[in-house]
Amino acid sequence: MSLLTINKLTASVGAEVRGLDPDLMAADDAVGAAVLDALEDNGVLVFPELGLQPEAQVAFCRKLGEIDHSSDGHHPVAGIYPVTLDKSKNASAAYLRATFDWHIDGCTPTNDEPPQKATVLSAKQVAERGGETEFANSYAAYEAFSDDEKRRFGALRVVHSLEASQRRVHADPSPELVAKWRSRPTHEHPLVWTHRSGRRSLVLGASADYVVGMDRDEGRALLADLLDRATQADLVYSHSWSVGDTVIWDNNGVLHRAAPYDPDSPREMLRTTVLGDEPIQ
Ligand code: OGA
Ligand code: MN
Repeated sequence: MSLLTINKLTASVGAEVRGLDPDLMAADDAVGAAVLDALEDNGVLVFPELGLQPEAQVAFCRKLGEIDHSSDGHHPVAGIYPVTLDKSKNASAAYLRATFDWHIDGCTPTNDEPPQKATVLSAKQVAERGGETEFANSYAAYEAFSDDEKRRFGALRVVHSLEASQRRVHADPSPELVAKWRSRPTHEHPLVWTHRSGRRSLVLGASADYVVGMDRDEGRALLADLLDRATQADLVYSHSWSVGDTVIWDNNGVLHRAAPYDPDSPREMLRTTVLGDEPIQ
């Protein structure tokens, strides 16, 4: 019998896990293994009102893999990064406006590191209105292609950049800001990611700038159309947050975004990221 009690939230993505003791999550290796299995099967796991404390969240994530410490320093607990638009809680809040567009974390790394394997968010403060986090299953998006599309799109390569994702949310950026974005190298990825498991998913979202070898406008129109198809309502789970909820997603097999919320909202999510070990290929 599985260690976890799991109920699917939609047909294609997301499941709720109830009855777990947060202290056990941080201490038990078997729970970590069961969570990784359930994540592969469901893409997103929701732990309603778990009340996981920051230190326990980091300890839990350590059971899932190696923790990303590259954004440490914004929160007293190492391994915790506050996701908020409130500059008093996170000095680099402006970058986080890009979370309003569909994306996969880590498609434009500083070096060549693979995208993060999984991300955990726990709600410390929620928005009065909006601010849901939406998830779309990018394995299902690939599976929905016809055989002909699988062949055609399977051959495409896409250039991703930080500039592409930031431009979508910054009208009229200063030359200095653009130069800063451009200091991050661009990355070419296949549109279809063939995982070690043999499963295939789509690599799409805000960082996807253009299709290699295709007319820029035509390629961008194709990327927009594929993203629309990948994020249709029946492939999406939308999580409405309550304080104390914890959600974890498989960053290799789901796209995600934040639904709009008031930029002055105190909304604050505490994030821990588990490093990936699988290059996009
Ligand atoms: C993230 C992210 C969405 C949200 O933390 O990577 O995209 O709803 N967050 O805050
Ligand atoms: Mn994100």
